[in-house]
Amino acid sequence: MLLRGRPRALGAAALLLLLLLLIGFFLFGGDPDCELGSEREARRGEGGGGDPGSVPGSPTPRVPSDGRLRPRGAAAFDGVPPADPGGHNRSDCVPPPPPPPKCELLQVAIVCAGHNSSRDVVTLVKSLLFYRKNPLHLHLVTDAVARNILEMLFHTWMVPAVQISFYNADELKPQVSWIPNRHYSGLYGLMKLVLPTALPPDLARVIVLDTDVTFASDIAELWALFAHFSDKQAIGLVENQSDWYLGNLWRNHRPWPALGRGFNTGVILLRLDRLRQAGWEQMWKLTATRELLTLPATSLADQDIFNAVIKEHPWLVQPLPCIWNVQLSDHTLAERCYSEASDLKVIHWNSPKKLRVKNKHVESFRNLYLTFLEYDGNLLRRELFGCPCPPPPGAEQLQQALAQLEEQDSCFEFRQQQLTVHRVHITFLPHKPPPTQPHDVTLVAQLSMERLQMLEALCRHWPGPMSLALYLTDAEAQQFLRFVETSAVLSARQDVAYHVMYREGSLYPINQLRNVALAQALTPYVFLSDIDFLPAHSLYDYLRASIEQLELGGRRKAALVVPAFETLHYRFRFPSFKAELLTLLDAGSLYTFRHHEWPQGHAPTDYARWREAQAPYRVRWAADYEPYVVVPRDCPRYDPRFVGFGWNKVAHIIELDAQEYELLVLPEAFTIHLPHAPSLDITRFRSNPTYRDCLRALKDEFHQDLSRHYGAAALKYLTALQPPRGPT
Ligand SMILES: *[C@@H]1O[C@H](CO)[C@@H](O)[C@H](O)[C@H]1NC(C)=O
Ligand SMILES: *[C@@H]1O[C@H](CO)[C@@H](O)[C@H](O)[C@H]1NC(C)=O
Ligand SMILES: *[C@@H]1O[C@H](CO)[C@@H](O)[C@H](O)[C@H]1NC(C)=O
Repeated sequence: MLLRGRPRALGAAALLLLLLLLIGFFLFGGDPDCELGSEREARRGEGGGGDPGSVPGSPTPRVPSDGRLRPRGAAAFDGVPPADPGGHNRSDCVPPPPPPPKCELLQVAIVCAGHNSSRDVVTLVKSLLFYRKNPLHLHLVTDAVARNILEMLFHTWMVPAVQISFYNADELKPQVSWIPNRHYSGLYGLMKLVLPTALPPDLARVIVLDTDVTFASDIAELWALFAHFSDKQAIGLVENQSDWYLGNLWRNHRPWPALGRGFNTGVILLRLDRLRQAGWEQMWKLTATRELLTLPATSLADQDIFNAVIKEHPWLVQPLPCIWNVQLSDHTLAERCYSEASDLKVIHWNSPKKLRVKNKHVESFRNLYLTFLEYDGNLLRRELFGCPCPPPPGAEQLQQALAQLEEQDSCFEFRQQQLTVHRVHITFLPHKPPPTQPHDVTLVAQLSMERLQMLEALCRHWPGPMSLALYLTDAEAQQFLRFVETSAVLSARQDVAYHVMYREGSLYPINQLRNVALAQALTPYVFLSDIDFLPAHSLYDYLRASIEQLELGGRRKAALVVPAFETLHYRFRFPSFKAELLTLLDAGSLYTFRHHEWPQGHAPTDYARWREAQAPYRVRWAADYEPYVVVPRDCPRYDPRFVGFGWNKVAHIIELDAQEYELLVLPEAFTIHLPHAPSLDITRFRSNPTYRDCLRALKDEFHQDLSRHYGAAALKYLTALQPPRGPT
């Protein structure tokens, strides 16, 4: 109802203002600074000091300096008619700020807690990095979960000219936990209030962002708006684009006090220095305490309190152009803003409905968002043109190591792959580690997109915790997310941790993946498996019982061998017990694993003895042995030089043996390999002599390293080395 009359009234207002503008143009000699809307300023910022070719109102392609990509959604914004002043106040019209000095360090603060927000932050940061031309310092206020995830992510992302600082949100909690809050963001939603004290005292300005905003332009243009602040103003905000704070949305709707429509705090420019000077902490606490005498709780977290303070001290606020926070909330009036602006800068997905929000341009916003969601983060590692910056930690050593590689080397591709630092996003999905139990075992494995369909069956066979590393592109990670969300079996499991390692390079970094999954296992023991194996249904319980009985923890350093079998049938009845398995084996519907192609891989397990065994028995290492084992979590890591196919597990078992792990075969344990099409790497191994030559060279180097580490004890591995025969 409320909205019906608007468009016409707006149209009239628009015309009127256009007229005013024209008059203004003549009166003030066409002062271009009064061209309303920050579109102009925007362009200046973007061109890094003048873009001679751009005519006001002409579409500005939002392409980064290297011209690599234009987000899918960008086109939708271009070519929109030039800005219409609309309902905006001419008081906005102040000289445009100079663009921030080239290479000025821009400060950004984000509060982030939990797994879901950590994923959101990545999308936000991608959109930031895509358009930015300045070095950035990100101040991340995080809980323990988000810190773990983001620390590893940024460490492995290695983006030049981005500094990261973490602040412990849990330490800040007491400062806001006394405020009753009904907003879904919980306590963390209130933490923006304490930034002036939480951030370093010498930090004077910061842009504060919600995790659910997406940039559509260079953040330097936003930073430049600090120049608009008068001497006293300390908080830059965009008006709340809904009638929430007018208090007329429903009967008895009592919002917190606010100036007019109030302001939205999804994007804030903060002059921290001035807030500290003005006694901000006392100011907001006083206001909040007073309002809470009559209001039961905050409905919109920090935003209610910011608004109440601003109502009391209106001089604090500098209103920002609405294009810097286009709010797609419920009851949004955002259309008033962007139907008039030709150049949207920041989209704010502040509805619990997120992408499903109703809005006439939502399709193009969604495209922008999805573009960044799926955008290859590796491309954002590009250097900042013309801004000398210290390289990210480890980058120089990496450059040197890469520079030393020789292209004629038959192992060039292997070595390059081994040196690649992959972006790693641990616990990509919500994960609740099980309570620590002394004999608990985590199943550890790695996979890529083609093996996703194994996950449900694996969950049915293994009721315990799992740590799985996935090798995916950014786009595949989103498909994976949907895959889990639509599977009842998978979404019911909170004890399965999925770690995404982003794809880069041509060879499958199998041991790096295994190491990621292994490092993230949280139980004292791990079952080192492969994704195309299904363990016996009882294996999880049986392993825990065996670990306890064998007193593995204190007394023995052992690797428990789980005998491996294979079926060549896609459909078959999975044996429940050893007796059933033996029947299938005798009937020829099961084989011992790689019985035909690579018997030495599992021969030392001694299947004949296993048939009869009632108790665990010890076996000796022999060349090429690669059993599936259960070991303490602190076992040796996999050797990352083995990428692609071949020798990746063999080397690990040698390492275990060299460190004197006893190999104990468990009499009731088994795991069965299911058939699948051969992997790309095994196909390459079979068809490519260079690949095999290289593998031989890598093995030699591995043996040299063994001798260095273990001395004479390593001799037996060398003498056992047989002429390379590879599975054929
Ligand atoms: C427009 O500016 C005037 C005076 O500067 C102010 O009183 C008024 O509230 C402003 N209106 C809006 C919609 O901001
Ligand atoms: C995280 O997102 C999933 C959907 O992907 C949702 O089911 C879950 O409730 C969210 N968790 C939290 C804590 O918001
Ligand atoms: C303004 O009020 C709405 C309620 O309609 C609320 O959902 C929202 O978070 C507030 N801010 C914005 C930007 O709409």
